[in-house]
Amino acid sequence: MIQPVSDIKTIAVLTSGGDSPGMNAAVRSVVRTAAAFNIEVWAVYHGYQGLIEGEFEKMGTHSVSNIIQRGGTILKSARSTEFRTKEGRAKAAAQLAERNIDALVVIGGDGTFTGSNILSNEHNINVVGIPATIDNDIIGTDETIGYDTALNTAMEAIDKIRDTADAHERMFLVEVMGRDAGFIALETGIAGGAEISLLPEELTNVGEIKAQLKNMLKDQVRSSLVVVAEGDETGGALKLAENIKEDFKQYDMRVCILGHTQRGGSPTARDRVLASRLGASAVKVLLEGHSEIMVGIVNNALKITPMRVAVSKKKDLDYTLVELAKLLR
Ligand code: F6P
Repeated sequence: MIQPVSDIKTIAVLTSGGDSPGMNAAVRSVVRTAAAFNIEVWAVYHGYQGLIEGEFEKMGTHSVSNIIQRGGTILKSARSTEFRTKEGRAKAAAQLAERNIDALVVIGGDGTFTGSNILSNEHNINVVGIPATIDNDIIGTDETIGYDTALNTAMEAIDKIRDTADAHERMFLVEVMGRDAGFIALETGIAGGAEISLLPEELTNVGEIKAQLKNMLKDQVRSSLVVVAEGDETGGALKLAENIKEDFKQYDMRVCILGHTQRGGSPTARDRVLASRLGASAVKVLLEGHSEIMVGIVNNALKITPMRVAVSKKKDLDYTLVELAKLLR
């Protein structure tokens, strides 16, 4: 049991940016841990926009019943342009002050943390971040909440596409999410046995891709599957298909964009457990007196990262996995 050193009595919790499966499990864990320590919890609806507009509601243990298994976020999410302004953030800070809220727990990705970092610098607000994004691109945690679910959703889709690709002897270009990060493309590529995975972090040489695919053709491979991250500099799966289809008429090429299917769905057990651990940790570190930090799990242990560090750079891909993907193609 922790020994509280801070006198935090009231906290608020919000979800912001792109939703990710497991956000509800994190909200539940924050609310129930706070209740266990007799801390009052306010939910803020619609992320930072709701914070500005005062969309608050008091939460108790029962407010978060029956949500651990649900995708999306019961607190709703939004991308707020007003919060990007000094005036917007001043209104948000005033809403917190009006309710005597001692600390704010924000659940989201890099945009969410960048916003909270500015808010706490400008208004001296105590903020703790919980990393939740399907992109998995946040440093200070091995995985972000929602990544495992999105990975499994994309892998299951790829397995299904493979069946029809094989039946018709077609080439499929499958686009997965990741505007700036290739984690989903890399790991679904490995797990789904893709011939090639194109990642935003790696320069794509279209000539080389064509040569590789042609080599496979020579080897009597009759169907193939290329995973393309949406942020790859080729411009995504549709553009790439336009670029290479003349050279592969014999493959009867098709494109499938998985899109927002990857953001929804019931979280995997791994995401629920991660979210439960991080939600409880966020409340506990506040009680221990920490502020302006993000909680993460690294090597199965809690890791606390200063928020300014968490927003300073993106997590690197695991390049041993990049090599593995190339070896197994
Ligand atoms: O940040 C998560 C993410 O799903 C990215 O992978 C994707 O590029 C983006 O959000 C899509 O955002 P929106 O739902 O606003 O179109």
